[in-house]
Amino acid sequence: MKTVIEDMCSGVDEEAIARAGSILKQGGLVAFPTETVYGLGADALDAEASARIYAAKGRPSDNPLIIHIADWEAINYIVEEIPEQAKKLADEYWPGPLTMIFRKSKAVPLATTGGLQTVAVRMPDHEVARALIRAGGGYVAAPSANTSGRPSPTKASHVVEDMDGKIEMIIDGGEVGIGIESTIIDFTEEIPTILRPGYINQEMIARVIGNVRTDRGLIADNSEVKPKAPGMKYRHYAPRAELFIVEGQEKQVRDKINELVREAAAQGKKPGIIATEESMGFYECQMVKSIGTRTEEITISRHLFGILREFDNSDISVIYSEAFETPNMGQAIMNRLIKAAGHQIIRV
Ligand code: TXA
Ligand code: MG
Repeated sequence: MKTVIEDMCSGVDEEAIARAGSILKQGGLVAFPTETVYGLGADALDAEASARIYAAKGRPSDNPLIIHIADWEAINYIVEEIPEQAKKLADEYWPGPLTMIFRKSKAVPLATTGGLQTVAVRMPDHEVARALIRAGGGYVAAPSANTSGRPSPTKASHVVEDMDGKIEMIIDGGEVGIGIESTIIDFTEEIPTILRPGYINQEMIARVIGNVRTDRGLIADNSEVKPKAPGMKYRHYAPRAELFIVEGQEKQVRDKINELVREAAAQGKKPGIIATEESMGFYECQMVKSIGTRTEEITISRHLFGILREFDNSDISVIYSEAFETPNMGQAIMNRLIKAAGHQIIRV
């Protein structure tokens, strides 16, 4: 299959959006930018179209998809009931990087929800995404547009790496703003529960609805407590090289990473480092990548997945990364980094 690439870096191209909309209506796949990561879209109400998403990604079929909408009224057709607190959250944070889970209506095929009676819904804050959703009929199922297990795409070139030849169209909207996937909150539990941390953190949610908790499966550092979002149990984002996180006081971390790099090189390995603008000058290593600046944490979230992909395209065999326990997004960033490292953390 020939994959068409449409450039919308400087805004919505109405004609191309109309073509993208008809691809979706005919059961095809279109990758598109959102404010979090690129999504791989299909008509959410068409079971066969959803099935094609799983095939293109190599995704396990028990892992449900998020339905993206562009207008508030659209939600009524796909969910049974919307709790008052969810309406308040939507008022505050939609459109935006927040996904909410409700009991699904009959209109939503089980092929889209991975067999579950619940459905995840999100209204993205990106004009290209919303134009596409409207053109495609109003309901677009979209996981991140990566091959299952690879880092989520934050640029169109990442989508090309994974999806070229497998889908009808990729819309290039430039680099995304946030870089890690939306916060997921489950409203089918007695107490609203965060299943995946993101840009909208627990405090921002509590400020609007009061009581909210975090899924135990997310916090627990072992495999005994299963996370409720099926996708959170898979080993994600794993780079080809071995990845270690080094955590502790600034100075100790730098010294430890320099020591680990020397040891690795002595063993014939090719070491690389994930540092920040502030720290990169302190390292003695040929491959030091700056993820962003600690004074602006969104630069760190935005570049995390891209850096992991860059290392995949290099001959580096072991990566040492600083930890990024930043004030607002620290939990969300570290959730992704720890998964990528397969929980290998060195504390100094
Ligand atoms: O930012 C985002 O949310 C991006 C962009 C494209 O919108 N999408 C995204 O989708 O991250 P995906 O499929 O990569 O991650 C969706 C997560 C998975 O962990 C999945 O298991 C969980 O949401 N999920 C979806 N529906 C669910 C449901 N009904 N119950 C529990 N978890 C659900
Ligand atoms: Mg994903």
